[in-house]
Amino acid sequence: MSMRVAVLTSGGDAPAMNAAIRAITRVGIHRNCEVFGVFGGLQGILDEQIHELNSRSVSRILHRGGTFLTTGRSEEFRTEEGQKKAAKILTDRGFDALIAIGGDGTMHALDALSKHWNGFLIGLPGTIDNDLYGTDYTIGFDTAVNNALGALDKIRDTAEAFQRIFLVEVMGRHAGFIAFHVGVATGASAILMPETETTIDQLVEKVKKARAKAKTSVLVVVAEGDELGNADTIGKKLNERIGEKCRVSVLGYIQRGGNPTHFDRILATRLGAYAIECLLGGESGGMVGEVGGKLIMTPFKETWTNKKPIDQWMLGLLDELSG
Ligand code: F6P
Repeated sequence: MSMRVAVLTSGGDAPAMNAAIRAITRVGIHRNCEVFGVFGGLQGILDEQIHELNSRSVSRILHRGGTFLTTGRSEEFRTEEGQKKAAKILTDRGFDALIAIGGDGTMHALDALSKHWNGFLIGLPGTIDNDLYGTDYTIGFDTAVNNALGALDKIRDTAEAFQRIFLVEVMGRHAGFIAFHVGVATGASAILMPETETTIDQLVEKVKKARAKAKTSVLVVVAEGDELGNADTIGKKLNERIGEKCRVSVLGYIQRGGNPTHFDRILATRLGAYAIECLLGGESGGMVGEVGGKLIMTPFKETWTNKKPIDQWMLGLLDELSG
């Protein structure tokens, strides 16, 4: 079977999206598919920014962050009219399949499109937040964690030099996976994230405990979406309660860029190639992912109705680990 396949990236970019596009394009072409890139995310379908790719179109992108197809968040595609219009364009242009790489917004969009278009639809998990059920890790998460880790190691140096308390805010509007991994890997005294409720009293307690143990520096990692507020707000509250000025550092978008790690490149390559194999095997309607080393496909809806849990065992070890 040969297919005419469109590929796009949507929502927040994530390092190694390019590696996934490259794998989809090259494996697709090798297996007799015609592969087209949609530029500008889902809006690119509506604006017909769709161009054929060949093997050379995806040269020199494997090692680069961002996405060479560019991305976006489309208001028009959120409407039923927008979805119907996209379905018509895909049909009129003779497409058999669409592969979209993105986060939960992208999986919602593919699910919505499936109500209006009977072509094959496959999603790839591409978000630094790692908040999709159906894959142990999302494309870009490992790079983002390593980016944040590098920054936190540097902050630790200056924190130790002055024996200071630092609150470091990492990305994660609705999910604390980055905060959790970075916090554990840098030996944070506390990790604040949306999945776990921590009161200001509990935080004060943790910081005081760390001080009582004569720790030279105290790091608190805060996910931007924590229920107590952002790092700045929490820092001020902590300041008032312990009478010591807490330094705040917001890492921001630096986490989302840069050369993808080996882990992300391999994951993206495997998932891209697997998406083509699924399509050619007649599968549709789900997101490909890797769980326990196995490549699987999960129906779109389950990727957001089921929640991927934070490792409770590791979480329970935090107090012991932070000494
Ligand atoms: O890509 C996911 C994410 O990094 C979230 O953690 C963050 O809240 C959001 O994107 C911010 O991105 P933007 O400014 O592009 O909406």
